Amino acid sequence: MASITIRQLDEALKKRLRLRAARSGRSVEDEVRTILREAADATGEENLEAFTPPGRAAAPGRAAAAPAKAARVLLIIGGGIAAYKSLDLIRRLKERRFSVRCVLTKAAKHFVTPLSAGAILGEPAFTDLFDPASEFDVGHIPLARECDLVVVAPATADLMAKMAGGHADDLATAALLATGAKILLAPAMNPHMWANKATQRNLAQLVADGVALVGPNEGEMAEAGERGPGRMAEPLEIAAAVEKLLAASETQPLKGRRVLVTAGPTHEPIDPVRYIANRSSGKQGHAIAAAAAQAGAEVMLVSGPVNLPDPPGVKVIKVESARQMLDAVQKALPVDVAIFAAAVADWRVADASAQKLKKQPGQTTPELPLVENPDILSTIAHRKTQRPTLVIGFAAETENVAANAKAKLARKGCDWILANDVSPQTGIMGGDRNTIELVTGSGVEPWPPQTKEAVATMLVSRIAAALNGARA
Ligand code: CTP
Repeated sequence: MASITIRQLDEALKKRLRLRAARSGRSVEDEVRTILREAADATGEENLEAFTPPGRAAAPGRAAAAPAKAARVLLIIGGGIAAYKSLDLIRRLKERRFSVRCVLTKAAKHFVTPLSAGAILGEPAFTDLFDPASEFDVGHIPLARECDLVVVAPATADLMAKMAGGHADDLATAALLATGAKILLAPAMNPHMWANKATQRNLAQLVADGVALVGPNEGEMAEAGERGPGRMAEPLEIAAAVEKLLAASETQPLKGRRVLVTAGPTHEPIDPVRYIANRSSGKQGHAIAAAAAQAGAEVMLVSGPVNLPDPPGVKVIKVESARQMLDAVQKALPVDVAIFAAAVADWRVADASAQKLKKQPGQTTPELPLVENPDILSTIAHRKTQRPTLVIGFAAETENVAANAKAKLARKGCDWILANDVSPQTGIMGGDRNTIELVTGSGVEPWPPQTKEAVATMLVSRIAAALNGARA
């Protein structure tokens, strides 16, 4: 067989290939395989597995990419001209041995029929929340729960708006609201609708909620003369994104676990304009929340005032004072793991003034009697009911780090403590790096100096090992 390498192609073609590959998240090599496979599909050619070099993972393609156990995909077809491509998407997903169920929105039925979707599926497509034929046989709750991934293709501007707003007035939106599975959107709309501030606002909300995206691509629109971003990703691109997400979910060791993280400083009011605070940036706690979410956990982050974006896919509860933090933490129970990374103020002003304290001529400086704040970590670790399986604290120390941390572990009743030296010369408080000593019942383990993100990843893998039965 004749051979040709990518290097031999002309520059313009290589550039187009690189762009196409970047857009679909594939290597250039895999992109070429995809193109060849598409061409072969069009000509009825079957045996293309030979294009996957031995020893390498199979490129997204026919049976070679099929997972061992059929993962379940719920495909929601929205009402846009791109809906016709979703019929091909069903084929592509089934080729990959996914078990596919399909819901058509009311608007989708203007573009494709439930009959044509059902014919490709090999089972009826669902349409109506109140149609006994679909609702009583399946129902939106099982439909939403009995799947590993929900794909919305095309995701129209209207469907995205409904999702961002939490609407549930039809089968598609009710299933989207009820699912615990990851959601993948393949947006498709006119470029002006895509660029519209409302759509971008909804998109930002959905991304913050942990929704994944494929596309939209740039190109010709159905409307004559219209061009720009808004074309739905091609079925093969969507199928590749589905494979990637489902492969990732297999490597999500905290899937199905609930994780609570506290982060940042607390602000303890002196009067309406002044407060007691500390130098915590919240970076370590936010990094832990992000890593736990990436590992598949449902994460609640109770954060004091910080200057950081919300980590994607994490429910963020913003608080100011230690007492508000305790309240939010208790409301978030039950959880499997609670990680207390917040630098909670130990004391608050006994009687914060309702009015701004004023300097009075001739008066001495005011005295501010302090009272102790509740110890959130200790309160949760000593709970008789709903104590998390794993309670993890931090120990911010400036001397005798390991010894103080060991004493703290016993005093607070937690399972692990991540001890760190917060003396100003370490730059840890507020900085990007951290040096941890992990203190557990069985000893002290020094971790290398590393970024706060790397600490978070290491901690999450230790948590997963402990929860999933391996030795911590
Ligand atoms: N912590 C808490 N509530 C408090 C104080 C601390 O939940 N009121 C948690 C912190 O989030 C951290 C751990 O307890 O996980 C230890 O915090 P640290 O500031 O190191 O210790 P303190 O308990 O404040 O003790 P000390 O200041 O005496 O070192």
